[in-house]
Amino acid sequence: MDPWQPSSWRDRPALQLPAYPDAQSLAAAERRLAALPSLIFPGEISQLRQRLAAVGRGEAFLLQGGDCAESFDELGEQPVESTFRVILQMAVVLTYAAACPVVKVGRIAGQFAKPRSSDTETAGGITLPSYRGDIVNGSEFSAAARQPDPARLLTAYSHSAATLNLLRALAQGGFADLHEVHRWTADFVRSSPQGERFEELADRITQSLAFMQACGFDAARAPQLHAVEFYTSHEALHLHYEQALTRLDAREQRWYGGSAHLLWLGERTRAVEGAHVEYLRGVRNPVGVKLGPTARPDDVLRLLEILDPLQEPGRIVLIARMGSDKVAQALPPLLRAVRDAGRAPVWCCDPMHGNTVTSSNGYKTRDFERILQEVRGFFAAHAQEGTYPGGLHFEMTGQDVTECRGGAQAVSDATLGERYRSACDPRLNGSQSLELAFLIADVLKAARRAPR
Ligand code: PEP
Ligand code: CO
Repeated sequence: MDPWQPSSWRDRPALQLPAYPDAQSLAAAERRLAALPSLIFPGEISQLRQRLAAVGRGEAFLLQGGDCAESFDELGEQPVESTFRVILQMAVVLTYAAACPVVKVGRIAGQFAKPRSSDTETAGGITLPSYRGDIVNGSEFSAAARQPDPARLLTAYSHSAATLNLLRALAQGGFADLHEVHRWTADFVRSSPQGERFEELADRITQSLAFMQACGFDAARAPQLHAVEFYTSHEALHLHYEQALTRLDAREQRWYGGSAHLLWLGERTRAVEGAHVEYLRGVRNPVGVKLGPTARPDDVLRLLEILDPLQEPGRIVLIARMGSDKVAQALPPLLRAVRDAGRAPVWCCDPMHGNTVTSSNGYKTRDFERILQEVRGFFAAHAQEGTYPGGLHFEMTGQDVTECRGGAQAVSDATLGERYRSACDPRLNGSQSLELAFLIADVLKAARRAPR
């Protein structure tokens, strides 16, 4: 294979990148970024690789979730804290049911760039560049907002740094202590059936901790009870940004992407000869690859050869996003091809992106039932092929939004408009996320008992 440089992607066809009007100010922003400290450090990335290697061996489970796109306007602690606490809750539900460690990865602290199906958007007879995420331009439909602005690269860095700082505090500073499990439920969820079910679970956990303490187990000396490992991820779409944050580890003499722990390739940017694959093959981070229903076994194997020639445990997460009606057909051939090639990547299910529909009143939405159905289909396909269903990937928030239909709250077309806040894809709210975790916990428990 050709030698790799952080910039070698520039010789390849690059889809989904913005057309900046002023090359000089883009270059200046890139230089500024390159001089700033890395957000993530190699040791943390290696640790995530070890955790994902355990998932690949069937000894742990991956839970990845967060916004479709983060926004610069969401300032303050509330959005981050609420999403963090729901991921903790979901992880506890899954850990408890399946008696299996859960690796927690947020779509957070850097998820600012969006692929779009069209370069332009037309409204009221006016055509403007599409919104490509806050790292590129503004979502407002005006010529000024839609102009790609390189200064946004630096804002994305600052926003990511602030979010990461808060996440590290939440993960390490006492909030995530298992003794605090009762505090994780948001007020709007507390009185719901899921909230009550979670409180029962929290009671059982608290009793178990008290029991262990009474038996002489010293909780004060068990760091696992007082803090969690929480990792960040985003789609490595904006390659100017990713390149500027790529760092050489002096000790290992290897390159690391410094913008997040895990970086993924989107369904639209995984072309074997494309710029995004070229960039990701050279960094040591775990790499996710979204796979839609048109992915062919040969393409997947080729991608694996390029991204993971040495078959290193914990390097690859294949994220299937087939759609609830296609998963049973489309997934098994991929599982077979990868298995027969002797590979055991982490297989993760994104039940969101193949299930997006438009409501009767024009909202982009997703149905709770179809999300659940795709998850079940994913588990069934793995049971059929004797492979391990290693994880789940959700677009979700801890906030009380009304963006996906269904769930116990029964969000409907009529209520979607009440609190629809996403500038991009619809997210599960805190209550729907927890409800889904309870429903999936039983499936996971059964899957982990099945012989492989
Ligand atoms: C996403 O995860 O937000 C996304 C755009 O996904 P995909 O590449 O699978 O369409
Ligand atoms: Co999305």
